[in-house]
Amino acid sequence: MSAHPLPADQDNQDTSDLHFEILSLSRLEALLEVEQSAYSHPWTRGNFIDAMASGYQIQVLLNGDELLGYFVAMQGVDEVHLLNITVSPQYQRQGLAHLMLQALVLWARAQNAQWLWLEVRVSNARARDIYEKFGFQRVGERKRYYPADMGEREDAIVMSIKL
Ligand SMILES: CC(C)(COP(=O)(O)OP(=O)(O)OC[C@H]1O[C@@H](n2cnc3c(N)ncnc32)[C@H](O)[C@@H]1OP(=O)(O)O)[C@@H](O)C(=O)NCCC(=O)NCCS
Repeated sequence: MSAHPLPADQDNQDTSDLHFEILSLSRLEALLEVEQSAYSHPWTRGNFIDAMASGYQIQVLLNGDELLGYFVAMQGVDEVHLLNITVSPQYQRQGLAHLMLQALVLWARAQNAQWLWLEVRVSNARARDIYEKFGFQRVGERKRYYPADMGEREDAIVMSIKL
């Protein structure tokens, strides 16, 4: 879907079996390893189990049997809320977040959603930049939304894009 996801000459990776799957329990351990390696305050196993039980859309991006990334999205009335998007650290900066955002947009449009929403940490400049380049606009902020170090909290920027 992306113009050039994981170019074949990059790190000699064979990308012939790049595909999305709905998260199943058999992939949960691999997903949790990525989650714990990517965040200072990762979601817990219970968070993902709850998300699955709630019927949230959780798509994992695989290359063959290897889990490269995933996103978690919740459907509202005429909107979709992106709750988590993560790329395994060793596969970052190769266009995979962009590819997953495209997959998310396809799924959200198929649900007849009009808007996509997300929150991002104020300090997460890289993610904010990627969302802006993708077309998201800043529409507000939520004070003390995220846990931070030393028992502190961090503000979230709220962003949205019209589908
Ligand atoms: C934020 C995050 C999801 C971004 O994932 P990513 O896969 O590295 O992002 P992308 O590669 O799709 O970003 C696009 C960038 O890759 C570049 N790119 C796009 N296609 C490319 C390709 N085929 N080859 C190389 N680079 C490419 C783009 O130009 C863009 O450049 P930039 O690095 O200057 O911004 C990832 O860093 C991550 O998981 N971080 C930890 C968790 C997190 O913060 N999640 C977001 C919470 S709100």
